[in-house]
Amino acid sequence: MLLTLDDFEPAARRRLPRPLFAYVSGATETGAAWQDNRDALQEWRLLPKVLRSVEERSSACTLMGKSYEAPFGIAPMGLSALMARDGDRVLARAAGAAGIPFVLSGSSLTRLEDVVQANPDAWFQAYLPGEEERIRPLIARVLRAGFGTLVLTADTAVLANRENNLRAGFSTPLRIRPRLIWDFAIRPRWVLGTFLPTLSQGMPHFENSFAERGAPIISKQAARDFGRKDHLNWDHLALMREIWPGKLVLKGVIHPEDVAKARALGCDAVVLSNHGGRQLDHAISPLRILPEARAQAGDMALLIDGGIRRGTDVIKALALGADMVLVGRPFLYAATLGGQAMAEQAAGILKSEVHRNLGLMGLRAPSEITPAVLHRI
Ligand SMILES: Cc1cc2nc3c(=O)[nH]c(=O)nc-3n(C[C@H](O)[C@H](O)[C@H](O)COP(=O)(O)O)c2cc1C
Repeated sequence: MLLTLDDFEPAARRRLPRPLFAYVSGATETGAAWQDNRDALQEWRLLPKVLRSVEERSSACTLMGKSYEAPFGIAPMGLSALMARDGDRVLARAAGAAGIPFVLSGSSLTRLEDVVQANPDAWFQAYLPGEEERIRPLIARVLRAGFGTLVLTADTAVLANRENNLRAGFSTPLRIRPRLIWDFAIRPRWVLGTFLPTLSQGMPHFENSFAERGAPIISKQAARDFGRKDHLNWDHLALMREIWPGKLVLKGVIHPEDVAKARALGCDAVVLSNHGGRQLDHAISPLRILPEARAQAGDMALLIDGGIRRGTDVIKALALGADMVLVGRPFLYAATLGGQAMAEQAAGILKSEVHRNLGLMGLRAPSEITPAVLHRI
């Protein structure tokens, strides 16, 4: 039964070939950064108040001047369209229907122009090399397509050491070996429902790494394209601020000093994140840094992600200073299992948990959540 977000993972494990499930579920090296995301949430308990007439409560909120139906959104996830048929558009549409933000990954396999058609409010997340001649044309393309919010992910200066991916046979580029073919063959529902229909439209390419179409997922060039981000620095972010007229969001920040820098540079928001534990192992859970980050953020919006699975997790993050949270893996599992309808169901589950928990806390809106609702254990 799919009753809460954690239920989608075991179901997706049965649907996806082993290497692909490992890519989505996995973390880096020992998994300590991933584990800390969950542990940090466990260190807080909630302090409800009673008899407060909560019948007219709402989980709606505003972020960067826009209203949303709940204080969570769908995090950017690369290769979504390999896991779920038409995965990028499916997630974009589900978010649109649920009234929550959706962030299209820069490592996605669907042209960004087509995704913004499916959801005009979608945000675009760029992975940029530290090269002005690459940055300018990509930003011009994103602007031309009609996106209003641009996210730069900054925690991937160097490729992560995802040993679990290698052990499970997943790599970029995807290498077609006998074992991969076997792993695919024993997942016929995914092969027939996702893989073959996708392949029938041609080999998927990284469509949005640059202004022009990127490499196919089985080409060695794909790995080379990923490996050029170690030049990126704050001057490039300043350049982006200069040429991007919309909302600018910096994702993958942990250090409060970096939050202060982003604010000084004119960013509209920061996403505190250790990339779901997928980049630097032993990176601290951003939740532990949240109050300090809030102090530096001032009136700049602050989002957080990593391990958020329950309505109570959302409330804890908001109480510690976030304006919104992002959720990754469970939405991709849901899209894998049942497309847009299932992704909407996942959003509905989390939304109803937030709504119910607000009532049980004696609160009528996310804006009423303060640090005083938390008790540290
Ligand atoms: C399969 C997968 C692909 C991801 N790809 C990207 C990406 O392309 N860009 C990015 O900024 N973050 C990427 N992330 C990180 C997520 O945006 C997010 O930070 C993380 O998944 C949040 O943790 P959670 O999955 O525990 O909710 C990816 C995460 C997953 C699980």
